[in-house]
Amino acid sequence: MEFKELLKQRSGRINRELMRFLPEETGMQRMLLEACNYSVENGGKRIRPLLMESAYFLCRIAEAEKQGIEIGDRTPDALEARWQAEYDTLLAPFLAAIEMIHSSSLVHDDLPCMDNDRLRRGKPSTWAKYGEDMGTLAGDGLMIYAFETACRALEDTGGCSSGRKTKGNPPEELFAKERAERIVRAIHILAEKTGIFGMIGGQTVDVLLTGKTPSAEQLDYIYRNKTGALLEASAMIGATLAGATRETVEKLREAALLLGMAFQIQDDILDETGTEETLGKPAGSDERNQKTTYVTQNGISAALEAVRSYTERAITGIEEIGSYPFFISLCSYLISRKS
Ligand code: IPE
Ligand code: IPE
Ligand code: MG
Ligand code: MG
Ligand code: MG
Repeated sequence: MEFKELLKQRSGRINRELMRFLPEETGMQRMLLEACNYSVENGGKRIRPLLMESAYFLCRIAEAEKQGIEIGDRTPDALEARWQAEYDTLLAPFLAAIEMIHSSSLVHDDLPCMDNDRLRRGKPSTWAKYGEDMGTLAGDGLMIYAFETACRALEDTGGCSSGRKTKGNPPEELFAKERAERIVRAIHILAEKTGIFGMIGGQTVDVLLTGKTPSAEQLDYIYRNKTGALLEASAMIGATLAGATRETVEKLREAALLLGMAFQIQDDILDETGTEETLGKPAGSDERNQKTTYVTQNGISAALEAVRSYTERAITGIEEIGSYPFFISLCSYLISRKS
């Protein structure tokens, strides 16, 4: 199957999980819930959950092979089926949570006090549709609801109680205590990479330096945090939930950060070279907002080269951990994306 088709299938799969975890639109605050759901449902490439899922499968493959277990079919569907119970109860709440956080960051990023953009994912941005008040609250609401969602992983103890394996469980089933530890570590990563030392920190420096000329070091800080941090979180959480060692989690963090740098530079290139129609968001937003980007600082051809070289380094890091072809294709696709 062509990678593009496979990607479409997999993002459809992620969408189904997302819908499962979104709140019901009811109660006195219904308008807020509608605005939250609108912000998540309105398309999006779902790169962060796909990255999390890929890190999870990569680490599970590596661990299984270390134990001498034969992994036949390495397609995402086959791997999901192999580890279905854990996929549904342990990983899925985090797949939904990371996309909720990312969507909340876009809702706030589009506000008039930030980038003042009226179009997102081919539709009116949340504030343009629901007003600035609901736009602000929907961003806040989604960010916190992401944590409620991630905590749903704690509802299922993996079929075990008291940390002892119950009869009939497959050998790969997790002990309850170990599972809970992984979940708590994953929630910690999610909080740290979202917050004042992660994405929000990066957005802060981005806003503070708007209209100014940041140094290369300041621009690097912005990219690492406003975009890199959530990609790092995705990979680290996938690896953590898969039971990877701290060294492997760290290796994947580094690879995801490189991907994040490439991803933001590509976003800046597309802002300059793309069209509103293909992007689904306004082209030329950076220029209008007097943003200094990697592209304005170094030119398009150096930017393209940076995207290629960051991605290549990320791929090398991933290949050192294990063999999961979909992950590598996902990285390569990110270089060639047009939206
Ligand atoms: C846009 O992210 C914001 C950046 C960090 C560059 P995406 O390009 O992943 O946006 P969606 O989710 O596909 O709309
Ligand atoms: C935003 O960067 C990154 C976020 C954390 C939301 P941009 O402002 O370049 O993202 P787009 O181009 O609006 O998607
Ligand atoms: Mg912005
Ligand atoms: Mg923006
Ligand atoms: Mg942009």
